[in-house]
This record gives sequence, C-alpha cells and structure tokens, in this order.
Amino acid sequence: MISGRTRLQGKVRVNGSKNASLPILAASILSPGQSVIKDVPRLQDITTMGDVLSSLGARVFRDGPDITVDTTNIYSVEVEEALMRRMRASNLVLGPLVGRFREAKISQPGGCNIGSRPMNLHLKGLRALGVEINEEFGYISARAGRLTGAEIQLDFPSVGATENIMMAAVYAGGVTVIRNAAREPEVVDLQNFLNCLGARITGAGTDIIRIEGVRELHPAVHQVIPDRIEAGTYMIAAAITGGDLTIVNVIPEHLRALMAKLAEAGAEIETGDDYVRVRGPQRLQAVDVKTMPYPGFPTDLQPQMMALLTLAEGTGIITETIFENRFKHVSELRRMGAEIKVEGQTAIIKGKKKLSGAPVEASDLRAGAALVLAGMAAENGTIVEGVEHIDRGYERIEQKYNALGARITRIRS
Ligand code: UD1
Repeated sequence: MISGRTRLQGKVRVNGSKNASLPILAASILSPGQSVIKDVPRLQDITTMGDVLSSLGARVFRDGPDITVDTTNIYSVEVEEALMRRMRASNLVLGPLVGRFREAKISQPGGCNIGSRPMNLHLKGLRALGVEINEEFGYISARAGRLTGAEIQLDFPSVGATENIMMAAVYAGGVTVIRNAAREPEVVDLQNFLNCLGARITGAGTDIIRIEGVRELHPAVHQVIPDRIEAGTYMIAAAITGGDLTIVNVIPEHLRALMAKLAEAGAEIETGDDYVRVRGPQRLQAVDVKTMPYPGFPTDLQPQMMALLTLAEGTGIITETIFENRFKHVSELRRMGAEIKVEGQTAIIKGKKKLSGAPVEASDLRAGAALVLAGMAAENGTIVEGVEHIDRGYERIEQKYNALGARITRIRS
C-alpha cells in the first residue's frame, strides 16, 4: 500500500546484479570445487538458482552478501520441472552441465508474462558445438561426445543464448566464435568470472566473442557487478517524483541510454566514478523511447519509463522491440488515470498533470516496479497486488523507498 505522492530524497545503495549473478552461479558448475560469488542480492530468483544447483548435488551456502557454491559432488544433470517453472533463467544450467558432463536434461521453459521466449538460439548454438539435442515430452535432452569449437552466428543477440553457448564452449576442443553476440554488461561479467576459473575468452562487450577451449578449470572468487536495472529504477524514481537521489554502487557507463532519455525529459544528472545523482524537474517533458539490445535502451526499464511518461508534458511514444507482450502494465496505469494507446508494439502516452491512486496488479517484475513508481507519484493511495513478482528483482523494496521518504506498507493477507 503506497500512500500517495512523495518527493524522494537521499542516498540509496544498489545491490549486486541479479542477471549477472544467475549465469555466474550456474557457471560454477563448470569447475569442480568451491567458488565464492560476492555481492549476490537476496532475491527469490537467486534462491531458485541455489535450489537448482542443490538439486543437482552442489552445496550452496550464503554468508551475508556472499554465496559459496561447492560443485565437487554434482550427481545429477537433470533439472526438475517445478524448478524450471519457478524461473525461466534455470535454463542457464544447460550450457555448463553440457560443458562439464556432456549431458543435461531440462524441461522446456514455457512462455511467460512478457512473451513466448523460445530457446531455439541456445539449442542452435549447442548443436553447432556437436551436442545432440532431443526435444520430446516437454523436455530438452542434450548429449555429446567431445564438444568441438565452432563458428556460431546468432540470428538475434540473445543474452541467455550467448551465455549458455559461452559456458558450453569453455571445454570444447579448439576455438568457438559467437557472432552477433549479446553485448550486455552481464555477459562481460560472466566472461570475467569464467576467465577467473581459467577459461580463455575474449570479446565480451563486443558482438564477437572468442572462446579458446581449455582442459581444466579451478574454483575462484568473484564479485558481481552492480545491478544496472535496479539503479535505473531509482533514477526514474527520482525523476518521476521530482526528487533528488544519489544512487551509489553504480557503473554509470552501463546506464548511458537511460541517462540520455532522462536528461531529454528535463532531469538533471550528475555522475561520478561509482554514483549517479538525479534531480527531477518541476514538470517532465515527453520523450520517445525504443527498447534495443545493449547499449540501447533496456527493455527491463521500459515499464518504469512508461510510468514516467504518463506524467510528462506532451505525448511520448514507446516502441518495444525485444519482447512481444510487454505492455501488461498499460491497463493498470490506465486505472490510475493514465492516457495510453497501444498499437502493436507501440504505446502512445499522452502525459497528464496527475495520476490518481487505485488498486492495481503487478503482472511481472518490472511492471510491478513501474506501478510502485506510479503509486509514489500519484495523488491518494495505491494498492499494488502481486508483490511477489517485485520481490524477484528488488531486495526490500519498501524499506529502501521508505528510507528515501516514501510511505509504503506491505500488507500480508
Ligand atoms: C535476459 C534477462 C532479462 C532481459 C532480457 C533482454 C536474465 C536472467 N534475464 O533474458 O531480464 O529482459 O535478457 O535484455 O539475464 N529469443 C529467441 N530465441 C532464443 C532466445 C531468445 O527468439 O533462443 C528471443 C526472446 O523470445 C526475446 C528476445 O530473444 O524476444 C530476447 O531474449 P534474450 O536476450 O534471450 O533474454 P533472456 O536471456 O531470456
């Protein structure tokens, strides 16, 4: 329950990145022994990845912000359906299992609230490395003799496919080259972790990644990068509430696309080595946004940006090019008085002077984050249902916003 309008002010620290931690935890499968991953956020998705690793026989312990994974005694290469259903990103164990054991079985991840999300690019890449893939009875089974390096051209720079292929190729004989690879900072962090384990990978962060196969890896200690999506959400929160936030533990370079749009909308932005300060204007100006693979505007900040545009002066256009069904927050924002028209993958948002609080429902993680932002900028109270989606990606969201001046209470039914 959010009790209406607040001007957020103060300093907030961003956690380690969820989307960097997930593939890195999965990659620990590759090197038998005990790896330590530092600054892993306390989120439901991370717990699920821990449960996936435990179900395979790994030992997983948390000590404050750090997670130790001991993958010495993995005895299973099969992820049960319930764990795949809990989180799509469980599919990130496919590459490392095939890499180390040359065998894996996962259930087909279904569609989700933001689109159909197939795995064809992951599988095409694995097949190119010599992995035999069978898709039957709702399962994907993978089996290989020796994996052999290959040239792989991705049809689309999929983050998950790039990561799975990198992890599978680490032990492959010879050299693997991934072209049109995803350039996201989380892919770079995975490369850095794999190289700490003893892998030989170059090029992450560009669209060509080169993996030279090695025979042996050893465990390592690695600190994950800050969460650019959490940071971006606070930046938009400062702007939409006309507030003044200093966001620390940030790599400003990872947020250039958002900074450009917020500046265009009238926010004042200051950056240092590891912080961003955002001051919201009296009235925001409408801007147009198109989501793109990195370094373009991230789809994971699209719903939050739409919340912002509902209060801007003028008409803004959002084009979603990554996911086919990522406008579920539109109907909820409309309940709060927003004026939004959707045509295919485009949303046209006519800014209003105010939003009014309403009961709304979070359909997925980032949609939920957007509704909380709208609630903190709206007149009157807002009730957001489906908070479990928000907990998947934001640690103690209400405590963090309350420390900045918001009035949010979690109501347990
Ligand atoms: C990751 C992020 C997610 C983010 C997304 C895009 C994690 C755990 N999740 O998801 O938060 O929104 O990147 O930045 O890091 N596609 C195919 N075939 C495939 C794979 C993907 O068609 O084999 C399509 C998807 O359906 C989607 C698009 O490619 O439309 C992007 O997906 P992808 O980059 O793979 O996203 P994820 O890795 O699943």
